[in-house]
Amino acid sequence: MKLGLKTQILPADAAAVAEAARCLASGGLVAFPTETVYGLGADAAQGPAVARVYEAKGRPSFNPLIAHVADLASAQAIARFDATALKLTAAFWPGPLTLVLPKTAHCPVAELATAGLDTVALRIPAHPVATALLRAFGGAVVAPSANLSGHVSPTTAAHVASDLSERVDLILDGGAVQVGVESTIVACLDEPMLLRPGGLPREDIERVLGRPLKRLPEDAANDDDKPLAPGMLASHYAPHTPVRLNAVDVAPDEALLAFGPAAVNGGHAAKAVMNLSATGDLAEAAANLFGYLRTLDAKGARAIAVMRVPQHGLGEAINDRLRRAAIGR
Ligand code: TXA
Ligand code: MG
Repeated sequence: MKLGLKTQILPADAAAVAEAARCLASGGLVAFPTETVYGLGADAAQGPAVARVYEAKGRPSFNPLIAHVADLASAQAIARFDATALKLTAAFWPGPLTLVLPKTAHCPVAELATAGLDTVALRIPAHPVATALLRAFGGAVVAPSANLSGHVSPTTAAHVASDLSERVDLILDGGAVQVGVESTIVACLDEPMLLRPGGLPREDIERVLGRPLKRLPEDAANDDDKPLAPGMLASHYAPHTPVRLNAVDVAPDEALLAFGPAAVNGGHAAKAVMNLSATGDLAEAAANLFGYLRTLDAKGARAIAVMRVPQHGLGEAINDRLRRAAIGR
């Protein structure tokens, strides 16, 4: 973190990408778009650069980071892929799927980035700017979502700037992201297990595997002191305003986060109303989720009332993030 230096925000053209790659190589922090959310990137091999990521986010050090690479060969230098993992990469990479795998013997990722575990989280993102940056840089880039720890993930460069201004050297502006929720995380250690629902629906993964994914125990996410899967902290995606789930009505001093075409009692009198998807499209809702939470959080409402979102497909990830938001800070 070069305190005092002004953060540069550059449109993500070829010159900016080349500058970002140089910045990473010299140990700097670069925020860049992926198809899921914006990431706060550092050279995965440089411990001090990785430390700056934790510092900039105010992130608990036990919470390990995802390493992003440009291609499968780079991924295989970092982690060991069994047949299941290879099946998933063939079907879904590049894309919004992160795999947790055993490290290779000479894994180049800094110990701090994996929080001392003998496993590592990896993905190949599907965004032209992320791909160009990873190719230009040549190594693995660790990148958590580019927000302050515990805050809502950023889906635009402006969100990144509002959380991390002056804590990041360069922000590559690639416009609004497409998916809007973070990647789905699957551990391929013995039986494949869903660690975090995300931008790739569980059903798609199970179709490719031909069997159900193992799930975390229900209460695994609820103990902040001893996370069973690191990072699945119960309160994580939290706006400042309290969040109330499964709302069927809304009070005049509340803001409403709506979903679908149905009307809600009191909706016309609410402090603010935003609809994740008026047609009930879950992909549209996922893309709007974090931006709308931020906007409603700024309205000074007593609470954000959220209508029910169905649990299938991307709804599983949306509901996971909403539950965490409702637990609060
Ligand atoms: O879409 C995404 O995944 C975004 C973009 C930037 O790629 N990144 C992201 O990173 O959401 P982050 O740091 O916010 O979430 C990474 C999650 C954390 O919950 C962390 O605990 C988990 O991955 N994780 C990382 N390494 C792990 C490991 N070895 N075992 C279990 N969980 C791991
Ligand atoms: Mg995050």
